[in-house]
Amino acid sequence: MRGAILFHIFLGILAWLCDSYVKADDPSRFLTFVVEYGEIAPLGVRQRGILINGQFPGPTISCVTNDNVIINVINNLDEPFLITWHGVKQRKGSWEDGVLGTNCPIPPNTNWTYKMQMKDQIGTYNYYPSTLMHRAAGGFGGLNILRRPLIPIPYPTPYGEFTLIINDWWNKDNKVLQQILDSGETFPHPDGLLINGLPKSTTFTGTKGQNYLIRVSNLCLVSSINFRIQGHTLILVEVEGSHTLQESYESLDIHPGQSAAFLLALNATVKDYVIIASSRFTKPLLNATATLRYEGSNTPASGLWPPAPPAYHWSMRQAREIRWNLTANAARPNPQGSYHYGTIPIVRTIVIANSPALINGKERYALNSVSYVNPSTPLKLADYFNIPGVFVLNATKDYPTGSPAVLGVSVFGFSLHDYVELVFQNNENTLQSYHLDGYDFWTVAFADGQWNTSMRKIYNMEDATTRNTVQVYPNAWTAILISMDNKGMWNLRSAIWPRRYLGQEAYMRVWNIERSLYTEYDIPDNAILCGKAKQ
Ligand SMILES: *[C@@H]1O[C@H](CO)[C@@H](O)[C@H](O)[C@H]1NC(C)=O
Ligand SMILES: *[C@@H]1O[C@H](CO)[C@@H](O)[C@H](O)[C@H]1NC(C)=O
Ligand SMILES: *[C@@H]1O[C@H](CO)[C@@H](O)[C@H](O)[C@H]1NC(C)=O
Ligand SMILES: *[C@@H]1O[C@H](CO)[C@@H](O)[C@H](O)[C@H]1NC(C)=O
Ligand SMILES: *[C@@H]1O[C@H](CO)[C@@H](O)[C@H](O)[C@H]1NC(C)=O
Ligand SMILES: *[C@@H]1O[C@H](CO)[C@@H](O)[C@H](O)[C@H]1NC(C)=O
Repeated sequence: MRGAILFHIFLGILAWLCDSYVKADDPSRFLTFVVEYGEIAPLGVRQRGILINGQFPGPTISCVTNDNVIINVINNLDEPFLITWHGVKQRKGSWEDGVLGTNCPIPPNTNWTYKMQMKDQIGTYNYYPSTLMHRAAGGFGGLNILRRPLIPIPYPTPYGEFTLIINDWWNKDNKVLQQILDSGETFPHPDGLLINGLPKSTTFTGTKGQNYLIRVSNLCLVSSINFRIQGHTLILVEVEGSHTLQESYESLDIHPGQSAAFLLALNATVKDYVIIASSRFTKPLLNATATLRYEGSNTPASGLWPPAPPAYHWSMRQAREIRWNLTANAARPNPQGSYHYGTIPIVRTIVIANSPALINGKERYALNSVSYVNPSTPLKLADYFNIPGVFVLNATKDYPTGSPAVLGVSVFGFSLHDYVELVFQNNENTLQSYHLDGYDFWTVAFADGQWNTSMRKIYNMEDATTRNTVQVYPNAWTAILISMDNKGMWNLRSAIWPRRYLGQEAYMRVWNIERSLYTEYDIPDNAILCGKAKQ
C-alpha cells in the first residue's frame, strides 16, 4: 500500500517534470489565425463571410503526431468567438477544446492562444467555429495529422495528398440564419454544396501512374453526402484516425462531422474527371463538383456521372461493412487489434433519444427530454473552481423517459476508465449524426427499430472501427462503446448544426478524485475567466 502511494507520488512528480501543455522535446508549430469578416460569393451571391487570414475556407493545418500546435486566434468579429478542433483528442483535459462548456469565448477585438499537443493520433480532422451560427459563414478548414517518420502506415506512401472540405451553403448571413432559429422558424434548405469553397471549379492535378491520398471532411451543417470520382474507384484507408480494411468503393457516404481518407490510383486515360459530392436523403438533391486533372490533360471531363446509390438501407449496409484493420497500426506502433475492446466489461449503459420539443412556444431539440442551454460559466471552470449552481451531475436520465422536454444543463458523470455502452435511439424520420470531443469510440452496431438489451448479440465485438462522429439512421439506432480514459469535460453534440444550436447536446464529465498532472493538465495560465468564475 505504502509502496503504491510512493509510486503514485513518483509518477506524479515525473508527470509534473515532463508534462506541461507543450512539450519541449517535441517540435512546435506556431500559427496565427486572424478571424475577420470579408465579402465572398461562393454561389455567385455576394455576402459576408468569416475569413481566416483572408481565406475561405481557412488554411489547412498540417502537422505531425506529437507536435505542439500553438495557435493565436485573433477575433476581429463583432461577437464572442471560439474555434473547436474536431477530432483532436486533447489528451489530459478539455482546456483547449474550444466549446462553451470548457472555454469562455474570445471577446471581440481580443485574442487568445490555444496550446495543444497532437498526442497519439494521426489522420484526417478539421476545425470550425463552435459559437452561435458562425460556421455558416466560414471560419473552418482541414487539420491533417501526419505520421511520425518512425511509424509505418498500412499502405504505400502516397505521391501526393488532396484535402477536400465539403460544406453546404446558404445565400444568407449567419446572423440571419441564427435569427431564423432564435425565432423558432423552420431552418431553410441549403442553396448549394461546396468543395473547398466552390460549387464546381476546384481543380486537383495529379500525375498518371501515381497514388494520391484524398482526405475528405464533411463540414456540412445539415447534409450527408455521397462522394465519388468518375472513372475511378476509391480505396478507403482511414476514417477519423482509424485504419480500415482497405476495400474498394464506387462511392462512400460521409455524414455531417465525419471524415475519410482514400487512396486513389491515377491509372486511367490522361484527361479530366469529375469529382462529385451530392447530398443524400433530402430533396432537392444538391451537387458540388470538382475536377481531377491528369497532368498534361487538354480534355475536359465528359460522359455520365457515376450515379448516386439508393438511400438508407444501402447506406446502413455500407456503414456495417467498414471494418478495422486489426493488424495495422494507427499513431502508435502496436496493432489496433491489440486492444480487445469486445472483451471489456460494460459498467454503464446509456440510451439517448433525440426529439423535437416545443418549449416556451419555440421549436427546440432535446436529448432524453433535456434541451441544453449554455450556462454563462463554462462547466469546466465551474468544476475546477468548485462553483455551485452551474450544473448538477446525472440530472438527465440514462434512458429516455418520454416526459415533456425542459431546458437544462445535461452533464453525465463518469469515473476515469469507465467502459460505457451508449445507444443513440432515433425515433424521428431524419438522419442524426453525433460527435464526441476528446474521444474515439467503437461503432459496434447500426440497426432499424427500437434497441433493447437482446440487440447486443448483433454487435460487432471484433473489428468495428473507431470514429469520433457517428450517424444514426431514421427510425433506427446506433450503438457505440467508449473507454472513458481521457479526463475532462467533453461535449457530445448533434453534428446537425441547427439542432445543436437549439439544444441537442450534452456533456460528459470524466473525473477521478486524484488531482494529478499525470491524468489531467492544470488550468492554462492564459485561461479567460467569465461568468461566476470571474467574480
Ligand atoms: C495576443 O497576441 C499577442 C501577440 O500579438 C501575444 O503576445 C499574446 O500572448 C496574445 N494573448 C493571448 C491571451 O493569447
Ligand atoms: C492491414 O494492415 C496490414 C499491416 O499494415 C497491411 O499489410 C494489410 O494490407 C492491411 N489489410 C487490409 C485489407 O487493409
Ligand atoms: C486502377 O487502380 C485500381 C485501384 O488500385 C484498380 O482496382 C484498377 O483495376 C486499376 N485500373 C487499371 C486500368 O489498371
Ligand atoms: C444532382 O445530381 C443528381 C444525380 O446524382 C441529380 O439527380 C440531381 O438532379 C442533381 N441536382 C442538381 C441541382 O443538379
Ligand atoms: C452519475 O452516475 C454514475 C452511474 O450511475 C455514477 O457512477 C456516478 O457516481 C454518478 N455521479 C453522481 C454525482 O451522482
Ligand atoms: C427486443 O426486441 C425484439 C424485436 O422487437 C423482440 O423480439 C425481443 O423480444 C426484445 N427483447 C427484449 C429483451 O425485450
